[in-house]
Amino acid sequence: MAKKNIGASLALYPSPLIVVGAMVEGKPTWTLVAHTGTMAHSHLMVSLVQAHYINKGIRENKKLSVNVVDASWLRDADRMGTISGNKADKSGAFAWTMGEHGAPLIDEAKVSIECEVDGNYELEHFDHFEPNPLRGRT
Ligand SMILES: Cc1cc2nc3c(=O)[nH]c(=O)nc-3n(C[C@H](O)[C@H](O)[C@H](O)COP(=O)(O)O)c2cc1C
Repeated sequence: MAKKNIGASLALYPSPLIVVGAMVEGKPTWTLVAHTGTMAHSHLMVSLVQAHYINKGIRENKKLSVNVVDASWLRDADRMGTISGNKADKSGAFAWTMGEHGAPLIDEAKVSIECEVDGNYELEHFDHFEPNPLRGRT
């Protein structure tokens, strides 16, 4: 098939969609993320604009959860991409369970991965957290 040049583009799609969970000031908060992936055989990667509310909690507690979105809770997940914790409290958005290591896990998610954050590669105005999975749940 002939290639069509569409110019320089970040077009690595489709990609999994996740809701990242973390604790901020003692309450859970949730953020929708598409730019995520796997590093080596040990870490995930979550790319988050530094101005997002959730980054504060991840930087302080070094814990986050990766909750894999599916159609059954897509609408609620999408809201986590349109509302910022800087303006509204998102702590009540989901039924959740505290993980064994201090990251909040969404009950409705069929896969939730509790992680400890080992590093942060900062690029432009993004944090690229390097979470190390501690527990998987299906
Ligand atoms: C489909 C979709 C995907 C998104 N992916 C990302 C992403 O990969 N990284 C990011 O920093 N923000 C992403 N966002 C934007 C944040 O989810 C959004 O700005 C959110 O309100 C930030 O919440 P917070 O300030 O409470 O952390 C995405 C939004 C949507 C709708």
